Amino acid sequence: MTVGNSPVHSQSMQLPSRGIAIQAVDLVKDYGSGANAVHALRDVNVSFERGRFTAIMGPSGSGKSTLMHTLAGLDSATSGRILFGGKDLTRMNDKQLTLLRRNKIGFIFQSFNLLPMFTAEQNILMPLTLAGAKADRAWFDLLVETLGLRQRLNHRPNELSGGQQQRVAIARALITKPSLVFADEPTGNLDSVSSAEVLGFLKQSVNELDQTIVMVTHDAVAASYADRAIVFADGRIVADEPHPTAEAMNNLLMAERERATRAAVASDAHDHFVRADAFADSDAEPSAKRRSSHRRAAATARHAA
Ligand SMILES: Nc1ncnc2c1ncn2[C@@H]1O[C@H](COP(=O)(O)OP(=O)(O)O)[C@@H](O)[C@H]1O
Ligand SMILES: [Mg+2]
Repeated sequence: MTVGNSPVHSQSMQLPSRGIAIQAVDLVKDYGSGANAVHALRDVNVSFERGRFTAIMGPSGSGKSTLMHTLAGLDSATSGRILFGGKDLTRMNDKQLTLLRRNKIGFIFQSFNLLPMFTAEQNILMPLTLAGAKADRAWFDLLVETLGLRQRLNHRPNELSGGQQQRVAIARALITKPSLVFADEPTGNLDSVSSAEVLGFLKQSVNELDQTIVMVTHDAVAASYADRAIVFADGRIVADEPHPTAEAMNNLLMAERERATRAAVASDAHDHFVRADAFADSDAEPSAKRRSSHRRAAATARHAA
């Protein structure tokens, strides 16, 4: 068996198998460019299996929302590929992406994003209304019953509790029977009872309706509802945990926080060293980095004088 010269990237060149709902290949997302660029996704490779519930955790600013938005075609990728249903999403035009979001991919937001002037029922049916499509009444009824919204259908969002509004948003995301649903901190604005209801329903829709769900959460208990949990840090996946428990996720997050703190302290110490070095060494031929830190230090000294 020759391993040495075999093309190591061949696996990533394959289209997703039937079992995979969506796959990111070498996914990069930068905001801005040059010195001000933010590297929100750094070569992310991940696939999400059909009919599974995956949680994504990680510190604020680590790229979780960016990953969800890019995978859902709400935001463009800088490079890399997103394989969905045998097609590369990054090559689709706006019209194709609109159709995809309307029919195949559902999105649940932390802030519900319901339309305030419409009733719960009208909000749930909105994706179909926009598409000029008719509702599958049996599916609508199943969602409404399962989510406990029957008595609330004629209410406007401001007449509903946060938990009820989020359940309306979930019904809206599922009404088109999308093969994939992204939920970005869906319980972030909910109390613990409403959170448990929403999480219970998401889990049920995976187990009983064969839905695929990818959910961002800050809450290790919320992540424990999932079949798998991924930890993100600084635009990369740093842990991938099957059958997550709240305790295991809290430990992983704590370890990641400690690592980040150590890295920040080390980089601070390095900065001090470079600055001190630039002062001491100002006659020597300075490197570009030293020159700039020298200028910064000199400007600070001038300002202080
Ligand atoms: N539209 C944007 N323009 C510029 N920077 C952005 C934008 N959206 C996100 N970012 C930056 O990208 C990084 C990842 O953000 P995000 O994906 O929202 O993180 P998370 O959801 O994990 O909190 C952060 O540094 C954030 O400030
Ligand atoms: Mg976010």
